[in-house]
Amino acid sequence: MDQRREAQANEINGSRSNENDSVSSKGPALRLYPCVEKKAEKYEDLEEELEFSPHLYSALERHLPTSVLSSSRDNKVQYMTDILLRYSPRSDRSRLQKHGEYRQKIISNYQPLHRVLYTMHAADFFVPSFIKAISENTEESFRKIMSEASPGVFTFEMLQPRFCEMMLAEVQNFEKWVRETKFRIMRPNTMNKFGSVLDDFGLQNMLQKFMEDFIRPISRVFFTEVGGSTLDGHHGFVVEYGTDRDIDLGFHVDDAEVTLNVCLGKQFTGGELFFRGVRCEKHVNSDTQPEEIFDYAHIAGRAILHCGRHRHGARATTSGQRINLLIWCRRY
Ligand SMILES: [Fe+2]
Repeated sequence: MDQRREAQANEINGSRSNENDSVSSKGPALRLYPCVEKKAEKYEDLEEELEFSPHLYSALERHLPTSVLSSSRDNKVQYMTDILLRYSPRSDRSRLQKHGEYRQKIISNYQPLHRVLYTMHAADFFVPSFIKAISENTEESFRKIMSEASPGVFTFEMLQPRFCEMMLAEVQNFEKWVRETKFRIMRPNTMNKFGSVLDDFGLQNMLQKFMEDFIRPISRVFFTEVGGSTLDGHHGFVVEYGTDRDIDLGFHVDDAEVTLNVCLGKQFTGGELFFRGVRCEKHVNSDTQPEEIFDYAHIAGRAILHCGRHRHGARATTSGQRINLLIWCRRY
């Protein structure tokens, strides 16, 4: 997946003409350097009509030629759609379209339990120490609340107990709806048989804001090597572990630049995360150095933040049920 995204980005780069702001005769072009004077528009309100993710449009906008950038919103959307369609393989397009229809089907039928979760209410979601650190927005303010028990793995108090409770209840409510309607849902990734994609039942915009305003500022400081300041997309989901759910999770790296993992509850034993150092794609199975060994026991509401390529896994949850919120932060 990472490779595909990388390849796609290169293809678009490769298509640009040498001039920074020209339209090629072969079709629409992009400027090499983004326009820094202009803030990109949001396109979430057009989500149902757009062929691609609204975040992709926001990310692309500042690369538009000046004449297009200053034109109407409709014109910009059309221009960007033309570009994206040209560089999106046919199989990708139909996959995106199918996924859009799938999501729409869920959103138009599922009745949320806690509507308050569907828009960002920072003061209700996060603990005050976390909000203070984010508003100060300095390395010092982040270090004050974070513990870096192993290089590149940060833990800190993040979510309010009430938020965790509501999110657990919302997920339970969604799963009840899935069971009752026999709706066939897609699981969060290839490794988890249980769990739900939060973005698929309406939480996408809230989680995008979560990523942009509350994870990206920290990543800008601690994950520069993976483009922490330019994260622009996410995959938000919950995973469920227990003796009657997924039990453990093998050693792996995530399909993300930066991963946020927060335990929402409930009561459980086991389920510790184990970390074994960051590796590039070529050396993902190389030996672990003693200083890279780090084990972490989950505490509800406490976040763990690491680079997606930091090798890790989860030990067996030996009793009870453990539900974790995951936000895979990406740079498209
Ligand atoms: Fe993972």
